[in-house]
Amino acid sequence: MDIAIDLGSDRTRVFIENKGKVLDEASVVTYDIDTGEIYSVGDKAYAMIGKTPVGVKAVHPLDSGVIAESDLVEDMVSILLKEVCSAKVVMPRVVTAIPCNVTEVEKRAVVNAVSSFGVRRVYLIESPKAAAMGCGIDITGPHGVMIADIGSGTADIAVLSLGGISISKSIKHAGCAMDEEIIKYIRKQYNLIIGTNMAESCKKAVGCVKVPAEPKTFRVKGRDAVNGLPRFIEVGSEEIKNAIEEIAMEIVNAIKDVLEKTPPELIGDIYTDGIILTGGLAKLTGFAKLVSEATKLRVRVHKSAEDCVIMGCGKAIGYIGETEKLQSSGISPLLAAF
Ligand SMILES: Nc1ncnc2c1ncn2[C@@H]1O[C@H](COP(=O)(O)OP(=O)(O)OP(=O)(O)O)[C@@H](O)[C@H]1O
Ligand SMILES: [Mg+2]
Repeated sequence: MDIAIDLGSDRTRVFIENKGKVLDEASVVTYDIDTGEIYSVGDKAYAMIGKTPVGVKAVHPLDSGVIAESDLVEDMVSILLKEVCSAKVVMPRVVTAIPCNVTEVEKRAVVNAVSSFGVRRVYLIESPKAAAMGCGIDITGPHGVMIADIGSGTADIAVLSLGGISISKSIKHAGCAMDEEIIKYIRKQYNLIIGTNMAESCKKAVGCVKVPAEPKTFRVKGRDAVNGLPRFIEVGSEEIKNAIEEIAMEIVNAIKDVLEKTPPELIGDIYTDGIILTGGLAKLTGFAKLVSEATKLRVRVHKSAEDCVIMGCGKAIGYIGETEKLQSSGISPLLAAF
């Protein structure tokens, strides 16, 4: 049985052939600073962010879609895979998603991290390609498809045709950068210090790029920057919109950039079909509308936006045999094997 892994900056997802998605946990590790001993990984580690005792650190070892702390990613992958892989999964072949335009060194780091589990071979696939396959699109035909996978650390935008990427752009500002902006805003406006988990909850609850007809409020809890005591405030949709809209516009401008550089033969297809948004941040209230207004195109968000990449990686397992036969020629969505 072969497996697929989406190593995201925010979440790690695993797919096992014939089983489907079997794991979806935070990409977080807590460890002892002195000994390096791992305390916890995944959702358990996420719950410890900002609450760790002295000597213990909680980190997101992936940053902007690439590996920032390789040893920690290797440990995290090994522990998470052991949890879900039964004795039947022996030396599997692995399909792993990577952002577009990563360097050879960054690719190698992903391959090494995944290999730490003991795998036969690793195949890579760019996130937008996997996302399109996860949406059920046949990307091997001569038809242009535009897809933007917007997650925590990266916004990966691509136009696909004939199984490959015609044009792409990857920017390193997405959901996590918005959380940082919310932290800065709350500090500046209310003199309240909050952590990243609180900022993320706030973004999910009231974050928007178009204020909804019925604006919502969210109770933000933190520490008063002046007297150090716990305090809470209520923030509204409009305030959070103002805090995060610059990052949203960066993503929108990157989408426009890709459209401007798309060959004329493919732009006609995109005009007809519109743009598909995947990734967790695509669910941000009003995001699809913002992109649609800026591009004058139809934009839709896949209903399981955050799962498209892992489901597409799972489908790409079916291309492994073909890729091995083709030896990197012909049409296969997978990049060369390592
Ligand atoms: N309903 C929601 N509204 C707004 N943001 C959301 C929502 N649900 C998830 N997100 C945000 O989406 C991001 C996670 O998306 P996703 O799981 O696609 O990222 P990832 O694959 O881990 O990261 P990346 O691909 O960028 O490395 C986080 O920033 C999260 O806060
Ligand atoms: Mg992702």
